[in-house]
Amino acid sequence: MSLQTTRVFPILLTLVLGVAGTPSTDETAAREWLEWYNTRAQDVYYKSSTASWAYNTNITDETQQRQVEVSLETSQFIKEVAQNATALWDWSGMSFDTKRKFDSITNIGSAALQNQTKLERLTNVQSEMRRIYSTAKVCENVDGQENCMVFEPDLTRELATGRDYNRLQFIWDGWRASVGPQLRSLYQEFVDLSNEAAVANGFDNTGASWRSWYEVDTFEQDLENIYEELKPLYLNLHAYVRRKLSETYGNRVSLTDPIPAHLFGNMWSQQWNNIFDLVEPYPNKPGGIDVTPKMVEQNYNATHMFRVSEEFFTSLGLGAMPDTFWERSMIVRPTDGRDVVCYASAWDFSRDRDFRIKQCTDVTMEDLLTVHHEMGHIQYYIQYADQPLIYRGGANPGFHEAVGDVLALSVATPKHLNQIGLLDEVTEDPDADINFLMATALEKIAFLPFGYLIDQWRWRVFDGSTGPDNYNAEWWRLRTKYQGIKPPSTRDETLFDPGCKFHIPNNTPYIRYFVSFVIQFQFHEALCREAGHTGPLHTCDIYRSTAAGDKLKAMLQMGTSKPWPEAMEAITGQRSMTASSLLKYFQPLTDWLKQKNWENREKLGWDAETWEDAKDPAASFASAVQATLPVMLLALMAAIFFRC
Ligand SMILES: *[C@@H]1O[C@H](CO)[C@@H](O)[C@H](O)[C@H]1NC(C)=O
Ligand SMILES: *[C@@H]1O[C@H](CO)[C@@H](O)[C@H](O)[C@H]1NC(C)=O
Ligand SMILES: *[C@@H]1O[C@H](CO)[C@@H](O)[C@H](O)[C@H]1NC(C)=O
Ligand SMILES: *[C@@H]1O[C@H](CO)[C@@H](O)[C@H](O)[C@H]1NC(C)=O
Ligand SMILES: [Zn+2]
Repeated sequence: MSLQTTRVFPILLTLVLGVAGTPSTDETAAREWLEWYNTRAQDVYYKSSTASWAYNTNITDETQQRQVEVSLETSQFIKEVAQNATALWDWSGMSFDTKRKFDSITNIGSAALQNQTKLERLTNVQSEMRRIYSTAKVCENVDGQENCMVFEPDLTRELATGRDYNRLQFIWDGWRASVGPQLRSLYQEFVDLSNEAAVANGFDNTGASWRSWYEVDTFEQDLENIYEELKPLYLNLHAYVRRKLSETYGNRVSLTDPIPAHLFGNMWSQQWNNIFDLVEPYPNKPGGIDVTPKMVEQNYNATHMFRVSEEFFTSLGLGAMPDTFWERSMIVRPTDGRDVVCYASAWDFSRDRDFRIKQCTDVTMEDLLTVHHEMGHIQYYIQYADQPLIYRGGANPGFHEAVGDVLALSVATPKHLNQIGLLDEVTEDPDADINFLMATALEKIAFLPFGYLIDQWRWRVFDGSTGPDNYNAEWWRLRTKYQGIKPPSTRDETLFDPGCKFHIPNNTPYIRYFVSFVIQFQFHEALCREAGHTGPLHTCDIYRSTAAGDKLKAMLQMGTSKPWPEAMEAITGQRSMTASSLLKYFQPLTDWLKQKNWENREKLGWDAETWEDAKDPAASFASAVQATLPVMLLALMAAIFFRC
């Protein structure tokens, strides 16, 4: 904003305070103050992002210390702004927009912690947890030589491609042994401090403050309803995959028990796409496309992958990445051996259109889709860059996570992969369709219970119903209850398995991914309609549709300026969250799985209490009830978004 505003402001402040000690109701003056705030805050956040970036791309004692210092300065600023805003202005009678802005800057998160010693400790604990997670390695002795493996790409590759039960268990156990115990007491301390900050901010605990972003009292119940609607599909997928895994691993996988957690090709069994080869419905038919070999053959590197993704966005008429994006992003793991936080993330530095991605990209199809996910965040940043800082956020956090995934749904179609030269031919064949949908379900359906349970665990930890004596036991109770998996080795309370998932030590809320995995199908269906797509939903590719692009753009540009149902309406015409688009997308696979499980007379579920016999799909089944989730969110200052 203009220099003039900055200079005028102190005079204005004196006037306001001089005239009366009580907060002013003068909206014109209040809005000038907000303008001044906007300029100052951009600078403060820019500095904070810069220090954070330096640490995340180069973990040393110095960068860590600097990051903590700047983070404390930022907290101080946030606190003062909230105090000053409250002392100066009474916005209760002002316009919707002004109120929304003041509400946002006075809802201040951990900065609310008044005790400086505690605030410093909280900041240090968080930083330390990140360091432990990001620098952990799994080491083994190979012919008298110590060989240490980093998470990305060493461990992820072994899990993705390994098929030896014991070796997979070594990797799975090794990661948990090297991270969990180190984090356990820090996490406990973190929970107490973080709760204290939430209480200072007027919430019961940290979990309650997170849920408030979706402003609806029935949030938990609404999610549970959607989850229940999706559960039958998950149970059918689970039973089918369990049978296939038992064909590979013999009696180590029982047909009625939870499945050992290390057999899914992923460290947390959260997405199962890497074991597609073991569960492929029609192995002699195409459809379950993994274009990784093709990418390698064509000498793809990270830059190509990012350019391919960018080109999809520009084909819709959306923005290209700024030059500084290409100059400043970190898209491969540095080769000089420094420690970095590899976990993929997208950054908005809050000023100068400085947006960056940090990803240790591997040349695989999975990472190609992750690149789209991260670029979706950047595209959101680009589109709302002209909003005041307060409104630069996702309509709700789930929206932010959904953007790139929506595009990836088009990218992964055979038609599209063929168009960009990563697939030689496209076959029209219902069996190939089932292969394709199975591959997609391993990514999207397998994720649902995981996406749902992480914050079930965390909300209970924050509200005290799960204490430190039960951290691990409760984690596994939920993992078994929702995912139907079990640990391959004994777990106890010296371990801390939740901490071995990035978002726990990094303190990133998780329910947003569950929300995203549901609403991205609503967005997909709406954009496909806009693009004039005909035929089954899973065959739709919105590439080059500027009509779809305009729809998406209109929603992205709103940022958080409006409650999220309005953003939802701008794109889908609906005002609530519903599972119906997702169910529609997978309907052919759902029918196929039910038939298959009936033929095998499967028991769906994993323990005596939940077992359910597969039903004859020829008999009628109740149609799904449409659940709605009328949630609403206010601005979130988070300017870094991660992959799930
Ligand atoms: C990493 O940080 C250290 C300071 O701790 C600095 O000396 C070094 O130059 C940095 N390395 C890179 C590549 O930025
Ligand atoms: C808050 O108000 C005080 C007193 O007027 C002032 O010194 C301080 O700079 C203000 N801080 C912010 C961040 O607005
Ligand atoms: C702040 O917290 C520390 C412990 O973390 C405590 O020793 C100190 O008394 C507290 N200060 C105030 C003013 O409450
Ligand atoms: C990818 O290859 C191109 C040359 O084809 C090169 O300019 C670019 O730096 C490479 N990118 C990475 C990340 O290695
Ligand atoms: Zn993300």
